[in-house]
Amino acid sequence: MQVIDDIARLRETRAGLRGQLGLVPTMGALHDGHLGLVRAARAENDAVAVSIFINPTQFGPREDLEQYPRDLPRDLALLEAEGVDVVFTPTADLMYPETFRTYINVEELSVGLEGASRRGHFRGVATVVAKLFNLCSADRAYFGQKDAQQAVIIRRLVSDLNFPLEVVVCPTARHTDGLALSSRNVYLATEERAAATALYRGLQAARQAYDAGERRPEKLRGTAREVLEGEPLIDVDYVALTDPGTLRGLRAPSDDPLLLLIAVTLGKTRLLDNGLLPWSLNDRDGLTRVLGAT
Ligand code: PAJ
Repeated sequence: MQVIDDIARLRETRAGLRGQLGLVPTMGALHDGHLGLVRAARAENDAVAVSIFINPTQFGPREDLEQYPRDLPRDLALLEAEGVDVVFTPTADLMYPETFRTYINVEELSVGLEGASRRGHFRGVATVVAKLFNLCSADRAYFGQKDAQQAVIIRRLVSDLNFPLEVVVCPTARHTDGLALSSRNVYLATEERAAATALYRGLQAARQAYDAGERRPEKLRGTAREVLEGEPLIDVDYVALTDPGTLRGLRAPSDDPLLLLIAVTLGKTRLLDNGLLPWSLNDRDGLTRVLGAT
């Protein structure tokens, strides 16, 4: 496994790799969610590259850039064990030299939901991901459904700017009690960790209502919100029911695939989760397929 922190060597190494390359962009502090993406990339490509870069442009001024968990030796050991070929670990100065002036804004899709609470976040994400795509010349890039809005935005970016690669969205990896794995879960105090299961419980309550035939958007959202509001430690930011392709809120009942998205704060920690309805769509390539159809 080659660990590379300069652009010339990355390009040279890429040119020497045979066959198709799968890229998994990450910010490190790797867990089984990230490793699921790596395994999918390993299974579907001849070579696998992983980037580890805590991208400063996607953090707001009052966010957790400084505290974001870092453990490069552990991350590298995990990636080595997965048979990864290349790990790209650039510095912030390499990615954003002082002369840097070009940013990418994926309009409309970046405005609501996470975009409303984290202004500029998706501009930073779209910009760094476009740079990584150009630097790595990958054939496929792997993202998690956990960050569904991010996945939808990146898919639009790839389509709009004609990047010659395929975006694959992998299902959300969860703890046995349903909490989605996240690098930020380490911030949770014991009682907060217990309360955090309400996100999954909320999604499951909506799923049950959906399975029982409920289609009214306000009822489906209300069912999930009720579960969240049953936890005094949780502050709900949004519970949204959207069309997965446009991320527009649903007004009328629909039998098309829907995306239910939740964001909360628990103490100082912001947590996200989401699920497709019908729930059976949250399978191996559920969101990839659903987005492909939109
Ligand atoms: P990061 O939070 O490190 O996540 C890297 C990738 O892992 C993302 O595609 C994310 O959706 C996926 N992921 C995280 N938790 C997951 C889980 N429980 N199950 C499945 N996939 C999961 O997302 C970012 O980094 C950054 O915004 C990045 C795309 C790297 C750009 O800086």
